[in-house]
Amino acid sequence: MTRTASPTYLVTGANGTIGARTVAALRAQGATVRAGVRRLDQGAPLAALGATPVHLDFTDPASLAAAFDGVDRVLLLTPFVEDALPLVDAALSAAQAAGVDFVVRLSAQGAAEDAPFALARAHAAAEGRVRQSGLRWAVLRPTFYMDNTLGFQGGAIAQTGAFYGANDGAVAWISSVDVGAAAAAVLADPDAYAGQTYGLTGGEALTQAQLAEQIAEAAGRPVGYVNVGPAALRASLEGQGTPAWQVQALMDLETIKGNGWAAGTTDAVQRLLGRPPLTFAAHLGHSAAAVAALWPA
Ligand SMILES: NC(=O)c1ccc[n+]([C@@H]2O[C@H](COP(=O)([O-])OP(=O)(O)OC[C@H]3O[C@@H](n4cnc5c(N)ncnc54)[C@H](OP(=O)(O)O)[C@@H]3O)[C@@H](O)[C@H]2O)c1
Repeated sequence: MTRTASPTYLVTGANGTIGARTVAALRAQGATVRAGVRRLDQGAPLAALGATPVHLDFTDPASLAAAFDGVDRVLLLTPFVEDALPLVDAALSAAQAAGVDFVVRLSAQGAAEDAPFALARAHAAAEGRVRQSGLRWAVLRPTFYMDNTLGFQGGAIAQTGAFYGANDGAVAWISSVDVGAAAAAVLADPDAYAGQTYGLTGGEALTQAQLAEQIAEAAGRPVGYVNVGPAALRASLEGQGTPAWQVQALMDLETIKGNGWAAGTTDAVQRLLGRPPLTFAAHLGHSAAAVAALWPA
């Protein structure tokens, strides 16, 4: 049974891509939300949404204890790091100590203990910890975010009119808006969703060349996609001093996209939100500020 009529929610990584969208969606429901941020001086946009920014660093147990105290439901997302398991364990310990009722884990599509890729195995291990925590739980496994292109390669687009990769595969990209809304919907109804795992995708598979066409249309400027091939991408990443684990993880993600392994769609967004997933064009509309920021006036 749901523990409180008016629960307090905690969103970890609240100023990141999915955290901020989840805070916005929870606040749109009128929920009481704590926005966990590493740096409180970055909490203003979350406070403007009506959330309460709280200091939360997974590597600082005292911050976890304070952030989780009095919380009923948590979105547990961890950053893209080599080993997120200690961060997940620390958060779950704090959740258990605080008597948290329900944890929603942001995982990733393809999470599996026997997956051929380290990132997918790591996500499966984290899911295992959440499932074995003794708390009520749900798991969301989104596919690649529509936000990645502007988020990771906005600078390249602005400077060269193109973004770069090593695959021509189609991917059923999902908008962070939909992931945040799905997280908020699941968090809001533990009785309905506890014990469930949802694979979240967009409604259609698009290649990066197709993304480029749509970004160009939204921006009113030419934007292209260039497949430089795996060897050149790896050399570029290594040349930038990218850590070896991250180079391998990024190359693995290129393999997944290139082989069409992320092209399939699910009906989870429709089932959770009662509407279809956002199209890429609609997502760009929600990201108009990010598009405009590429070419400041
Ligand atoms: N990108 C994709 O296409 C994709 C697809 C599926 C799943 N995922 C998964 O999504 C997760 C990342 O979510 P996201 O894209 O929303 O992340 P994000 O935008 O990179 O944000 C990460 C957040 O974590 C915070 N953070 C970093 N270190 C922290 C620490 N020690 N303690 C507390 N907070 C910390 C960051 O805070 P600061 O701002 O202070 O750094 C930031 O708010 C990863 O698990 C990734 O595997 C990604």
